[in-house]
Amino acid sequence: MDFDLTEEQRLVRDTARDFATREIAPKASEIDKSSRWPAEIVAKMGELGFLGMAIPEEYGGAGLDNLSYSLVMEEISAACASCGVIMSVNNSLFCDPIYKFGTDAQKKEVLTACASGKKLGCFGLTEPMSGSDAQTMATNAEKTKDGWVLNGAKNWITNGPHADYILVFCVTDRSSPKIKHTAFLVPKGTPGYTQANPDHKLGIHGAHSCTVFFENCKVPDSAVVGNVGEGFKVAMATLDGGRIGIASQALGIAKACLDVSVPYSKERKSFGVPISQHQAIQFMLSDMATELDAARLLTWRAAIMKDAKERHSMQSAEAKLYASEMATRVAHKAIQIHGGYGYSAEFPVERHYRDARITEIYEGTSEIQRIVIAASLLKA
Ligand code: CAA
Repeated sequence: MDFDLTEEQRLVRDTARDFATREIAPKASEIDKSSRWPAEIVAKMGELGFLGMAIPEEYGGAGLDNLSYSLVMEEISAACASCGVIMSVNNSLFCDPIYKFGTDAQKKEVLTACASGKKLGCFGLTEPMSGSDAQTMATNAEKTKDGWVLNGAKNWITNGPHADYILVFCVTDRSSPKIKHTAFLVPKGTPGYTQANPDHKLGIHGAHSCTVFFENCKVPDSAVVGNVGEGFKVAMATLDGGRIGIASQALGIAKACLDVSVPYSKERKSFGVPISQHQAIQFMLSDMATELDAARLLTWRAAIMKDAKERHSMQSAEAKLYASEMATRVAHKAIQIHGGYGYSAEFPVERHYRDARITEIYEGTSEIQRIVIAASLLKA
């Protein structure tokens, strides 16, 4: 594994860092406190090519690699984890599967618009009674003469209230014990497709999510993404990439914690010296830096394997598992270093602590990542 970034990767990372520092970080607290959808930042991310990073330019993307995507995700998420996941969902969970499995017409019309940031996508897999056990979904799509009729509900749909399109997974065949699923592309505004109000959550307040409903929602045959009956594989392959995005979001949150904890420890005094001179604080900072570096290496490995078009289910799961739990531990230590100020909304670390927690849950809980890793180990 080559640890050197190319000139292009460094340039992309520096562009993202500059943009995040100047235009996102100053607004992050306000976005969190007011639960505001950061429309102007989403638009600017589109202009910078950050909403379709690994999609070829002919389809509106930036034509970069997945390592660049991880680098940018880390920088954006360090400034604002809400902006990070908005970006991640559009890149990994929407544009990537449309590019891989979509028809030429879907790529020309929908992918080009979403990868360039003119439109936004979301991903509908989870349901009120089907989260980790994703195959057991209740949402159905019934075949008609000239299309399909969708019925059901999907919840926790990040970007759902604002997205122009949803990639939604439905059961299309229950005739045998092994049920079959199909993926559909549904534009917002299609009769029968509606969105509830945004969810109230512990963190990532700016990244609105909601429940969406399909009530006799009619779509044409041309809405099918991939092959009929193979939707579950589309979902799983998509999540292999999505987990790199969430691991990168966790890296950003942890980096933000370390970046404020080091200078704070040099300024804050106790027992007559800066707290950075206490070994207890030094050990915390050392553990934070070591774990962050370890998580970054796991994440970069998964991204490099995705770029090499190698199966990376296990490596993405390892990266997501370790990076997400690392981010929670690092944010916990950042609060400890800041003491009472860390618990106060005047300082950013309490936001990082709340934002970190979801990375252990969405796109597969830590327990699901362990199942994926064990399945790969035991299959060999
Ligand atoms: N790539 C391609 N195919 C895959 C695959 C992959 N990574 N993983 C599994 N498959 C295939 C299998 O080969 C199998 O194919 P066959 O039927 O031909 O044999 C089929 O899919 C079913 O696989 P499993 O038997 O392994 O499926 P399972 O029912 O045991 O479930 C699971 C596996 C890993 C638990 C899966 O259900 C899972 O990942 N659950 C978690 C779901 C999840 O991550 N949800 C997050 C929602 S998205 C989100 O959070 C968005 C957001 O807001 C940010």
